[in-house]
Parts: sequence; structure tokens; C-alpha cells
Amino acid sequence: MSSTFILTNFGLRYVGELLKTDALARSQVEADTRLLLDLYTGLTAPDRDDDLHRDLIARGLIERVSETMSRDDIDLRYHRNPLEHVERIIVEFTTCCNFNCAHCYNATVPRVIERDVAALTAAADTLLAIGLRRFDFIGGEVSKYGTGWLDLARHIRSRSADSIIALYTNGWWLEQQNFWAAGHTYADVPAYLVDLKAHGVSHITFSLDGPGSEHDQSRHQPGLYDRILNGLAQVRAAGLQPRVSLLARSLEPYSPRFIAWLAEIADRVYDFPPETARSERALRLFEDRTNSFSHFIDIGNGAACGENGFRLADIPDDRLYCRGFYRPAPSLTIKASGEVATCRITNAGEGYGNLHEQPLIDILNHLQEAFVFRLHAERRLADYRRFVDPEIFGNAIGHLCTYRAILTLLARRMHEEQIDPDDGAAIRRLNLEVARLTGHATGQAHGQNHSTG
Ligand SMILES: C[S@@+](CC[C@H](N)C(=O)[O-])C[C@H]1O[C@@H](n2cnc3c(N)ncnc32)[C@H](O)[C@@H]1O
Repeated sequence: MSSTFILTNFGLRYVGELLKTDALARSQVEADTRLLLDLYTGLTAPDRDDDLHRDLIARGLIERVSETMSRDDIDLRYHRNPLEHVERIIVEFTTCCNFNCAHCYNATVPRVIERDVAALTAAADTLLAIGLRRFDFIGGEVSKYGTGWLDLARHIRSRSADSIIALYTNGWWLEQQNFWAAGHTYADVPAYLVDLKAHGVSHITFSLDGPGSEHDQSRHQPGLYDRILNGLAQVRAAGLQPRVSLLARSLEPYSPRFIAWLAEIADRVYDFPPETARSERALRLFEDRTNSFSHFIDIGNGAACGENGFRLADIPDDRLYCRGFYRPAPSLTIKASGEVATCRITNAGEGYGNLHEQPLIDILNHLQEAFVFRLHAERRLADYRRFVDPEIFGNAIGHLCTYRAILTLLARRMHEEQIDPDDGAAIRRLNLEVARLTGHATGQAHGQNHSTG
């Protein structure tokens, strides 16, 4: 069958980014760019097997499709480019952690540390080429167990002066002396901050789970809240941007206590003229997208906390799918295992491919073929509701994402293992496997899990 060329997912985003720069105005347009622009503006290019086309295929920018693919189908494919809205890359790097926070979604996933920094470095180059300028190192606790992460940060900085490179941290290192952090020993906190900056880190994002003792209880660390509030100022003094990742389980959003809490933090993060109203200071924190605000998701260590939430039977089918699986926005995650994922809770967002087995460009160019992509895009999640075992997961959840994660993990396993829907024993086994990841397995829910996480 004869074929024609179109832009790949990667190629489409690549050209889109090129058009935002003045690169085309500055230089003579080379033959490869000319072809890419033709494809971008809607032309297809007849199949040719010459150096130019071979080079663009090898760079992952163009692909062959059947000549019978209609113009409308090509347009639709371009309009639905899954990479279109990705703005931020989450690099998990490790799932190992020195804390076991009361709510942690990651508490019950296997512990891994990324050892293949070269694969991540190549992936970072791919992402930089399509205009990604925000890299959040999240973990686990990357600052402690992410040996090699600073080499990756330095590489990103060497390629891109304007990238945001953020370290998410629980702040265990504040007020420490002679401490070991990701393969290096530091005399004190100022020395640590100098090294982070030297490696190109721009932002340090501390997690806070509520004001004062609420945070300390959630983290099982007396005095940590105050250390972090002081730490925000120390980070600023070192020439880095302090930021926060907030999870307020007990505070009513927009309540006076909530606003007061945001304002208290904002005072440490930014400079305000003294007369600035409390609400304005709170708003500044809220509007700055380099801070993070999360709703509590009852998964992992929090798996037993959803009993007073939604009854599973009452959730309509059309609320189940998540567009993040087929139009990831704003972030795409690279898990500590090398898996490319659209969601970072437990391992639910995986299923697109692994950087240890193939280059990122190949994974990005075949997102549409992944089972999990189609599961959500084609709204097939509801087909799996009947397989979720209420004896294991109960009849209610606190957050829709919990149910989405359970269904996605179960569906993917059933698909990969080609499980017969009538094989009750196999389905029970898969339910238990999923429950081990989500924290719903016996003994893990109700806060009985003491693994680090
Ligand atoms: C998994 S932690 C890892 C980073 C680092 N160890 C820390 O504590 O900041 C990343 C962020 O996810 C948030 N988080 C963890 N579990 C969550 C859950 N079940 N629901 C909502 N946010 C959660 C944390 O509060 C934290 O800000």
C-alpha cells in the first residue's frame, strides 16, 4: 500500500515551538525545516526514500501513514496532539523516602531509585527540543536518595538558562550539620544550598500539610513546620526561589483560617509592601504556578480515609475517565522506574513505555496506541467497574482519582494478562495486586503500613 508523510506528535510540537521563536526569520530556511513547515500547514508529502526523509524519520519528526488517510483524519490527529498542553515534566527519580507521611499516595509502591541517568539526560534533551522549560524533581525524597539527580539538573541548566528546575522536599535537611544527601556530604545548610545552585537548581519547594502542629503530626516530625518557615527565608538568602506544595486536609478552602495560613507562608516567600492586604498576599501564593496546591487523594497511606465520600455505585460512568491520560496537562511524569506516565499517584498513570527500553521520542510518538490512552479516550473505564472487589476496596471513596486509579490499574492488568472476565480467582488475585499498590490491601489501610514513603 502506498504511503505519505505526516508530522509525528513530537514533530508537530517541535514545529509549533519553532514558530514561536525568531529562528526562522534569522536564518535561511533549510530543506528539512521547509518540509516540516509544509507538513505543519496541512500538506502531506509523498513517500520518498532519500537522505532528507530518512533523517527526519530518524529524528522522530515525521512518520509514514497510509495514503488513504483522509485530510480530515490528519487534521483531527493534529488537533488532538497529546503533547499539545504539556508544560511541565515531573521527574520522580526515586520512590525511596525517609518519612512516612499520613496521607502519602506513594507509601505503598515498590521502592526504586533511577540508576540510568544517561537515559534521563537523553530524555531531557528531547523535552527541551519541544520547548519544555519546567522540570520538577519530586520523589520520594530526591534530596536524600536521588543520587545522580544533580548531574541531570546541571545538564538541563547547561542546555537551557531559562528553565525552572525545582526540588520538592520534606525539608529533613534543615538545621542539619554534616549530612549526607544524594551521594554528597555537606557541612551545613548554606553549603548545601550553594551546591544546589551551582548545579542549576532554581526553586526549592517545601511540602506543607497544614499550619503548625497539623503539619508536624502529618509528617510525624515535631518542630518541622517552624523549621520549614525559617528554611524558606534561608533559601531566599541563598539566591534560590523558595516555594511550597500545599495540602490542607482540615482547612476549608477560602475560609479565613485558610487565607491566614496562605498569607503567613507568602510573607516568607515574597517581599510585600507593609500595607499589602492579607488576601492579596494569599492570592499571590495561590496564583504563582510554581507553587502547588493539592486536594487530598485517599490512596496509599490515606486509603482508609474515603469512607465518608462518594458511594461507588452513585458515580456516573462519564465521571470516570480522565483526559490526563490522552491529553496530559499540565504535566507528564517520568517515574523512578523509567516509565513514562500521565499521572503520578501510585503507578496508575503508567503504560506508555519505559525509558530503559526505548527512547522517549518513540514513546511520545506512540502514545495513542497505549492501552491506557484508549481506555480513557474511548471511555471504556466503566466496563471494568464490575470487576472491582468491594470486599477489598469498600463501597466508597473520597476522591474520584482514587477510583480512576483502581480501575485503570485493574483494567491494564486484565488486558496485559488476557484475563477471562469469568475467571473469578484471577480477578480476585489482580484486585489484591492493585490493592497492594493503592494501599487498600489488608493491613495497609487504616494507617498500619510502616514502610518508608
Ligand atoms: C509524594 S511527595 C514527595 C516529595 C517530598 N518527599 C515531600 O514530602 O515533599 C510530593 C507531594 O505530593 C503530595 N501528596 C502526597 N500524597 C498525597 C495525597 N494522597 N494526596 C494529595 N497530595 C499528596 C505531598 O504533600 C507532596 O507535596
